[in-house]
Amino acid sequence: MKLGTPLSDTAVRVMLLGSGELGKEVAIELQRLGAEVIAVDRYPNAPAMQVAHRSHVIPMTDPQVLNGVILAEAPHIIVPEIEAIATEVLAQIEAAGLATVIPTARATQLTMNREGIRRLAAEELGLPTSPYAFAGSAAELAAAADEIGLPVFVKPVMSSSGKGQSFVEAMEDAPNAWAYAQSGGRVETARVIVEGRIDFDYEITLLTVRSIGADGQVRTDFCDPIGHRQVKGDYVESWQPQAMSPMALSAAQDIAGRVTGSLGGLGLFGVELFVKGDQVWFSEVSPRPHDTGLVTLASQTFSEFALHARAILELPVDVTRRDIAASAVIYGGMDAVGIAFEGVAEALSVPGADLRLFGKPEAFERRRMGVATATGASVQEARERAREAASKVKPVRA
Ligand SMILES: Nc1ncnc2c1ncn2[C@@H]1O[C@H](COP(=O)(O)OP(=O)(O)OP(=O)(O)O)[C@@H](O)[C@H]1O
Ligand SMILES: [Mg+2]
Repeated sequence: MKLGTPLSDTAVRVMLLGSGELGKEVAIELQRLGAEVIAVDRYPNAPAMQVAHRSHVIPMTDPQVLNGVILAEAPHIIVPEIEAIATEVLAQIEAAGLATVIPTARATQLTMNREGIRRLAAEELGLPTSPYAFAGSAAELAAAADEIGLPVFVKPVMSSSGKGQSFVEAMEDAPNAWAYAQSGGRVETARVIVEGRIDFDYEITLLTVRSIGADGQVRTDFCDPIGHRQVKGDYVESWQPQAMSPMALSAAQDIAGRVTGSLGGLGLFGVELFVKGDQVWFSEVSPRPHDTGLVTLASQTFSEFALHARAILELPVDVTRRDIAASAVIYGGMDAVGIAFEGVAEALSVPGADLRLFGKPEAFERRRMGVATATGASVQEARERAREAASKVKPVRA
């Protein structure tokens, strides 16, 4: 692939499907390498649109509309940032040889549905996972919970960021879990996965990069493990590195190598794993930068976003970690349009701290509006600093 001049015939055109905060950082990295960036999302002024050459506001789940935008823009590379996309269109575009879908159209199809990726990981690849079953009614859900044994997690097969998820500890809560899943699913598939709880010591994201090596072959590199803490299925803080036993690290890399190898293509993946002692379970995988990987903006020579950009442009990657660092999420704390931020100077006065304010046009109580990162001499110090910096930033009504 020959990089050219944006907005000319020699441009490498990259279309982002999904233009949130992760896409914004990918767009910036692509811009730095002279790619022409087209940002797409379902609402105007999304974060990545603010740093792209052009943008389109469309319902990305509508196959006809999505296909129309892709044909009109004729991108060389399509980079999905979210799961809620009409992925059958990506499969057709890829099959017709019209564009490269990152990492592959099949990967986007398998990972947008928990059933697809779970069956691949557990049944085809034989990777260790939580015990699980799928249910299409409240009765099936109760039967699955009974079979697996309480407590269980119940998740719509099509959802992310904890939406529609419940943790069921008593049989009488099973009907509620079914009803809640119906309200929180992305589409009305009326299907859930019921998962036995893994009693892990800690959970990690193993960022895994598939890129073209010096020999022209695809190679796989692993970033240092990222530890994170989730509240209600949404990440609140992350740090790198997460200390692991050598056996657990090697098991984690083996699992991540196998699942990303099976999904194929080029780019960065976020492989979510549960760890207890030397034992490791596969949980899920994003075929794209991961929210917990925001910490790499502070910890690595090349952030996960820079690595993704390089890998998809068929350029070499370097996953070296430069610092110990942590990230802490800044929420909207209110429902309002065009909010302002107080305390930014105070946050940036915390030693080693940095900020990303995403520029989302509308805030919600639990919407991620920014992130604080911080370096430190230890993970504990980095976490304390990131939390302190995040806590200084106060969203206010303008
Ligand atoms: N089987 C399980 N055993 C133990 N903990 C679990 C299990 N399933 C989910 N969790 C907890 O809930 C969190 C969210 O689950 P999961 O990653 O499946 O949902 P998600 O909606 O895809 O979240 P995200 O999109 O933020 O990754 C996990 O990171 C973990 O902390
Ligand atoms: Mg997850």
